[in-house]
Amino acid sequence: MGIIGDDIIKAKEILDSGGVVAIPTETVYGLAGNATSPKVVASIFDIKQRPSFNPLIVHFNSVNSVLKFGLTITDKLHHLIEKFWPGPLTIVVPSAGKVPGIVTAGLDTVAVRVPNHPLTLELLTKLEYPLAAPSANKFGFTSPTTAQHVKDSLGSKVDYIFDGGPCSVGVESTVVTERNNNITILRNGGISLEQIEQIVGKVGIEISSSKPSSPGQLIQHYSPGKKIILGNIVNNIKLYSNPGILSFKNLVEHVEQSKQRVLSESGNIEEAAANLFRMMRELGGLDIDVILAEKVPEMGLGLAINDRLSRASEDLKIN
Ligand code: TXA
Ligand code: MG
Repeated sequence: MGIIGDDIIKAKEILDSGGVVAIPTETVYGLAGNATSPKVVASIFDIKQRPSFNPLIVHFNSVNSVLKFGLTITDKLHHLIEKFWPGPLTIVVPSAGKVPGIVTAGLDTVAVRVPNHPLTLELLTKLEYPLAAPSANKFGFTSPTTAQHVKDSLGSKVDYIFDGGPCSVGVESTVVTERNNNITILRNGGISLEQIEQIVGKVGIEISSSKPSSPGQLIQHYSPGKKIILGNIVNNIKLYSNPGILSFKNLVEHVEQSKQRVLSESGNIEEAAANLFRMMRELGGLDIDVILAEKVPEMGLGLAINDRLSRASEDLKIN
């Protein structure tokens, strides 16, 4: 239990016998199991302590296997996946009763994607079913971008951690759907708004806030275990004692370097995304009282980075 390795046969055997395996993808590690088995999917929710109203993404090895499975993909979504699969784009399509209700949280749609990681694509090719997989972290905490992160977060609860190295993209997939011939973005992620609009023109945006309507239902999201203050770091240094720093490009004065993380010294947004969750975790493990972070430019993957930082900084508690 909780063993890290790169044995694809072992990963397959565990999955075939109804177990749960952490799998590498280009975005974050997933906690994967047979998407056609309600029992296996229930154990994924259980390990993650994830509320059952939050549906899972189903992972396939190709567009063809999605179609063979009996799902239909409308025109504009087709244009997008032709361009971006395998890759960090998830499409929401009618489920047509093809997956158990526990996967879709009872919705009549299902989220699917073809991840761009050679080991996981090979594993999916060997399996006779697609893999349901949420990010492989405990609900409410930072998503894992290395096998060791999975072990730190879920440890012995997962049967096997299939190690494919650090995730190259580092933020979760962009989630889109098509309604009345229009594409709507439901979550910003590894494919940018600009990239999508280049293919299908102007899109709608319907990002659900993690801010719950009733205070009794407060939940944490992306928490590294320390309070995050998002804003102007130089101003906030005057207000908070013993901080750690998560900046975009530059180190700041008056805080020792070992308590600072710079997302990308050259100001590269992709590099910043790839470093984000690891650096949040590293800061979370330091002897500091608070993490002072700043937003990155709102372009490309910057939207996804700022979304994760905002959610992580909301002052919420698990109910
Ligand atoms: O990059 C990723 O997407 C990673 C890797 C492992 O593939 N997975 C991931 O899964 O981030 P998770 O469970 O942490 O996030 C799934 C997202 C959630 O925002 C969920 O609400 C949305 O997909 N989702 C799933 N099914 C949906 C549906 N039928 N309609 C709308 N949104 C859906
Ligand atoms: Mg997640």
